[in-house]
Amino acid sequence: MQSRPFFVAVFFLAFTLHPLQSQNSSPGPSAPSAQPDAKARRPLPKPVNLKVLPKDITPEELRKTMRGYAGALGVECGFCHATNPQTHKLDFPSDAKDEKTTARTMIAMTRSINEQYMSQVHDPDATPADLHVTCGTCHRGHSMPEHFVPPPQEHHRQAPEAAQPH
Ligand code: HEC
Ligand code: HEC
Repeated sequence: MQSRPFFVAVFFLAFTLHPLQSQNSSPGPSAPSAQPDAKARRPLPKPVNLKVLPKDITPEELRKTMRGYAGALGVECGFCHATNPQTHKLDFPSDAKDEKTTARTMIAMTRSINEQYMSQVHDPDATPADLHVTCGTCHRGHSMPEHFVPPPQEHHRQAPEAAQPH
């Protein structure tokens, strides 16, 4: 029982060091590029079918943007992106899904709200996050924004009896 932490440490070292060593063909025991994360995050291919996002968006920025959409709507990439029937992989440039088309409209809408309207609001108390709307402002983790029905009466300052007609 007492030797358990030791074995855990050995396993940990074996599994973390091995891939790094075989990956680094360059000389020198501690190449600075040896980030454990770098291999798992395969770079996205260069986009070929952008119609609303900036065409010179960096792969990192594109990935962050897409993760943001997925998180804001509570969905996976495949909610908007069609699967290639041959490879069974997501075909990101394909426009086959209506959800992707709707998302383009939504991206443009969100941009207009911010550029044309939110930019005119000058609230000295606003935090940076208050200054613009995002997909999440409306969607809040749902692919279809939930309908909001204000709770009846609760916000009236008056006692319910006084507010009622006689
Ligand atoms: C809410 C819908 C939505 C979700 C979810 C989504 N995307 Fe997208 N994605 C789009 C839209 C819309 C475009 C096209 C943008 C444009 O036309 O400028 C796009 C474009 C892309 C492109 C560029 C394709 C090309 O070559 O033009 C890649 C790559 C991509 N998405 C990856 C992802 C990944 C990875 C995920 C999951 C983390 C994801 N997307 C989730 C809507 C979505
Ligand atoms: C101002 C509120 C608002 C904002 C901001 C907003 N949406 Fe929407 N979105 C809606 C509403 C409302 C609907 C439902 C429209 C309908 O079905 O006719 C919707 C529907 C959608 C759908 C279709 C869902 C489905 O089940 O077919 C997608 C995809 C979507 N939005 C993506 C986005 C993305 C991505 C963003 C951010 C770039 C965004 N939305 C920002 C209000 C908003």
